[in-house]
Amino acid sequence: MNNKASWIKSPVNEEGFCPVFYRRFRINGVVKKALLYASAVGMYTPFINGERVGNELFTPYWTQYDRRIQYQEYDVTAMLRADSELCLVCAEGWAVGVIGYERLKNSFSDHISVIYSLEITYENGETEVIISDENTNVRTCRITFSQIYDGETVDMTAPVRELGAAVCDNVNTKLVPQQGEKVTEHEILRPVKYFVTPKGERVIDFGQNMSGYAAVSVSGKRGGRVTISHAEVLDKDGNFYTENLRGAKQRNTYILSGEGRETFKPMFTWQGFRYIRLDEFPSDEICLDDFKAIAVNSDIKRTGRFVCGNEKINKLYHNIIWGQKSNYIDVPTDCPQRDERLGWTGDAQVFVRTAAINFDIEKFFEKWLADLALTQGENGEVYGIAPLVKLSTPTKVSAAWGDAAVICPWEIYLAYGNKKILEDQFDSMKGWIEYMHSAGSEEFLWLGGDHYGDWLAMDGSEQAGGDDYIGATPQDYIASAFFAYSTKLFVKAGRVLGRDMTKYETLYKNAAAAFKSRFIGGDGLPIPKTQTACVLALHFDLCGDRQKTADYLAEAVRKNGTRLTTGFVGTPYLLHALSDNGYTDIAYDLLFQERFPSWLFSVNHGATTMWEHWDGIREDGTFWSSDMNSYNHYAYGAVFDWIFANTGGIKIMEDGAGYTHIKAAPVPDSRMGFADTSIETRRGLLASRWRIDGDTVHFEFEIPEGTTAEIKLPNGFSETAGKGKYIYTIPLDNSDLPH
Ligand code: BGC
Repeated sequence: MNNKASWIKSPVNEEGFCPVFYRRFRINGVVKKALLYASAVGMYTPFINGERVGNELFTPYWTQYDRRIQYQEYDVTAMLRADSELCLVCAEGWAVGVIGYERLKNSFSDHISVIYSLEITYENGETEVIISDENTNVRTCRITFSQIYDGETVDMTAPVRELGAAVCDNVNTKLVPQQGEKVTEHEILRPVKYFVTPKGERVIDFGQNMSGYAAVSVSGKRGGRVTISHAEVLDKDGNFYTENLRGAKQRNTYILSGEGRETFKPMFTWQGFRYIRLDEFPSDEICLDDFKAIAVNSDIKRTGRFVCGNEKINKLYHNIIWGQKSNYIDVPTDCPQRDERLGWTGDAQVFVRTAAINFDIEKFFEKWLADLALTQGENGEVYGIAPLVKLSTPTKVSAAWGDAAVICPWEIYLAYGNKKILEDQFDSMKGWIEYMHSAGSEEFLWLGGDHYGDWLAMDGSEQAGGDDYIGATPQDYIASAFFAYSTKLFVKAGRVLGRDMTKYETLYKNAAAAFKSRFIGGDGLPIPKTQTACVLALHFDLCGDRQKTADYLAEAVRKNGTRLTTGFVGTPYLLHALSDNGYTDIAYDLLFQERFPSWLFSVNHGATTMWEHWDGIREDGTFWSSDMNSYNHYAYGAVFDWIFANTGGIKIMEDGAGYTHIKAAPVPDSRMGFADTSIETRRGLLASRWRIDGDTVHFEFEIPEGTTAEIKLPNGFSETAGKGKYIYTIPLDNSDLPH
């Protein structure tokens, strides 16, 4: 961006309008290269001579705006003409519009501003720069309403009004080049069904819950209206269900110009949906070919693949992938549909390992973590969300949520061997550790905090005498366990960077010892007897007696009908805690459990993405309360990192960041029959495949260049392998398999 470019705004600020900033200019020669740099407070889409520039959506994306706003660069060489017009069509987006569950406006500013520079190099070597200043004009546009939650209205009959010359503006933040991934359109889904509900609603089913928007092509009279509402599920009577969207209207309206066939889709909003309802439509005839659903998400590359012989597990995996796609829209969000769609740190943290297997998320996290660091308070506190939004009370500073500051950079380092992210986030990690260190009355424990707890755990339900949302595992227990665990990871991170971590090694030892003396009983078991308490002690290495704790957890799961009671905090580690301690059979049994609560319960109930609640839709078809009931929350999809590491058997070793040193130790289960697990690592394809064939099990491993694999088969055979393909067959009855 040219440093002479000024931030500019419209001379009149009309409530909720979508201004177009435009500039006409002449081209004085043959253009060799033309680069456009642009940004906005709000969202902008650039056009040159009426043609859309690039394919990015929702630019300049979402950052901690008071600290930094990204600008984008576009090569527009081929788009210029002798007489050209540059337009930036804008909407309020995250910075100015409604965002956050309190649906407040103006998180960063009360008006839209833009900045741009167009740098032209002619064939004769001369250069010219056109910058944003008062020579830019402003007009209204046909988008007469646009908000992230509520949707968009495009009125092709609306007059375009000239608002006059733009005026210079003061925008108090840093402008930085784009760091994150682009957000673009992806899959196009065709309708699978059209039907009229018992209430008489005209509904189209796209067969897949997703985030994006529906595009419609329609012909009709001038002023004819198309209004489309969006929903994730139908209620038990088959009617269109929107209550779980809370205050988000998710409704797009198009008013026809009447000039032939017109195609509409929104420009500055997306919806979380599987179904659309035609609230208004200019004709009684519905032709399904006129509708499509376009998936929208960050342009991250798919890396992981998994398929096995069990269709329900395959469906679960499909749901996990779509859960990630739907919620990776520039920042990792909790859900794509209701009046939230926020960068909840806890959700991002529990899912990050799975996410980094499924897709290449290195750049995506570099950007988000940089913003997370910018949200940290003076004492290192990390809030529930990043970036922050306007709220009457800030989100909590909570264990397991704030720990995203440490766990996420560590996982990105492990997955990609990226030391720079540890370097860049080091102070942020340290800030969070010091915050926990100073919190509460006891130096080495985190007591008395106000947390989200084991969010949505089954053991906290009202029937169990607890809080519906935060689970039964005591908050002090969870907070002190995460304090010790994050400190341990921080020490590892520092060691990778070659720093002196003596102070934090001592802190870790003290935190672990304090945890044990406070929360582990004389019998070697955690004092709170919840599944999550055992899981954390096992997974974070904070047990009194490891074997006894594992035995206790195994029995607790069995006693509960081989069912879990864990929420956001315990669930991601539950199967690991079992299988790492001799109970792979129970881990598999939980994975295959179909009775509620379980992963396959939602699969059996037609889920196409991950549900927020184990009982989002109950056995009898009724719903969990509409105040917190998303059908597209990825957190419980974290189970895939267990499948990858156990069914596939692929684990990154401590010293093997970036898949340089891995374990390949699959544990087949006859309920799957076969499993193909692979990941496109930075060094090539890494694959683990097994197949049960009569009374033998075949294994095949593909190891890329630069990876050392410790292959271990269930019959005890092991060897160290480098690049190549390795094939083994062992007798089924000779192997120590769970099933
Ligand atoms: C979000 C969660 C989030 C939580 C905090 C919810 O409203 O949807 O996923 O982590 O609040 O507990």
